[in-house]
Amino acid sequence: MGMIEKIIDWIDERAHIKDIYRTQMVEYKVPKNLTFPYVFGVLALVTFAIQIISGIVLLLYYKPSIADAFDSATYTIMGEIPFGWLFRHIHATGANFFMAIVYLHMFTGIYYNAYKRPRELVWIVGWLIYFVMILTALSGYLLPWGQLSYWGFIVTTEIPGSLGDAPILRDFFKAIAETIVLWMKGGYVVTDVTLGRVFGSHVLIYPLILLALVGIHLYLVRAAGISNPEGIEYDKKKNPDKFVPFHPYMTLKEGAYVMWYLAIFFFFVFFHIGHFLPADNFEPANPLKTPPHIAPEWYLLGFYEVFRSIPSKFWGFVAFNALLIFLLILPLLDWSPLKSARRRPLFFIAFVIFMFSSMVLTILGVMEPTPTNAKLGLTFAALVFGFFLSLPVISFIEYGWYKAKGGEQQ
Ligand code: HEM
Repeated sequence: MGMIEKIIDWIDERAHIKDIYRTQMVEYKVPKNLTFPYVFGVLALVTFAIQIISGIVLLLYYKPSIADAFDSATYTIMGEIPFGWLFRHIHATGANFFMAIVYLHMFTGIYYNAYKRPRELVWIVGWLIYFVMILTALSGYLLPWGQLSYWGFIVTTEIPGSLGDAPILRDFFKAIAETIVLWMKGGYVVTDVTLGRVFGSHVLIYPLILLALVGIHLYLVRAAGISNPEGIEYDKKKNPDKFVPFHPYMTLKEGAYVMWYLAIFFFFVFFHIGHFLPADNFEPANPLKTPPHIAPEWYLLGFYEVFRSIPSKFWGFVAFNALLIFLLILPLLDWSPLKSARRRPLFFIAFVIFMFSSMVLTILGVMEPTPTNAKLGLTFAALVFGFFLSLPVISFIEYGWYKAKGGEQQ
């Protein structure tokens, strides 16, 4: 017996790690027909780890004060610390990839209806992760204290001020709006106090919440079992032929995808960093000079476009928050007994319209706010709402089909 085996045996005798390996890796079974998009959960996990590790390195050298923040990010980290630039590139690229992967992961869940019974909690916890991720991204964006950081933060914190535009009870809503804006900004002007608070949230509070939520998410996925792209819930005992052991089947398959992913990721880190560290942000924040075009990062453009294409600020605010809430309550809106877009033609059509409209809204979000673009924005916003509101109707129709077939899954 080699040295390594001896050490493992020594640990195993005390910690029973081999039992954990056997029950959680080999005896744990997953559907054998999982499609490619099921890999996005694992890729999200990999990217999350990349963010934590690279973030910790940046944290060692970043200085959270208005006087030092820009220089510490731009000169100390990028120029003086060995490989500091690499960790900043990784963290900035990682933030964008993380969002992209999580969107793909969410769309996969929507396509296969993985939010339905018995996975409602997996979905709800996933939604909380998404929400905290948005807060993490917004707070991290302020830290380098460049022009985009500063003005992006100002515009974002002003958005809840739209509540003051309410058609009724205006004074009441105005008071609430002002309180929220003041609270988010940490005062009437952005000071060291604000920056310190945003820094603490970004490096400690949100990551801790995310770690806890991701742990609960993974536990819940295990508890409910991964969905089946066919949309049929097979029993692991009654239909053992429909499942394969997690290890080595999934570990090898997904491990290969992880390698591809890392190759693409580092290609961007080394050769296309300009997309993720824009040149405008290498100019220190200047509260007296507003840059001409301030738009949120791409992952929020859809919501932003819904907000700005609606003529009333109040209703724009309500609308984009409603979209977030619709996402959360998907399991309630879509109560049909059928699962997976593969066996639901009406849902499939609605899903395609939803995806297409979300992409168009994202593109419109960076375009000039012309009247034509506003009309287009309104049309595609209506289609996105249409998707969510059509779900109860589609469910009703499908319930009829389901009953006519005697309540079978097929
Ligand atoms: C840090 C972010 C996240 C990580 C690391 C993560 C990780 C995972 C992993 C590893 C799985 C199992 C494999 C798979 O089905 O892909 C999974 C499943 C799932 N996740 Fe996430 N997830 C994250 C965010 C989200 C978000 C934002 C949502 C939705 C709003 C979500 C909803 C789901 C659902 C519904 C499943 C079950 C899929 C199924 O059974 O088919 N997750 N997640």
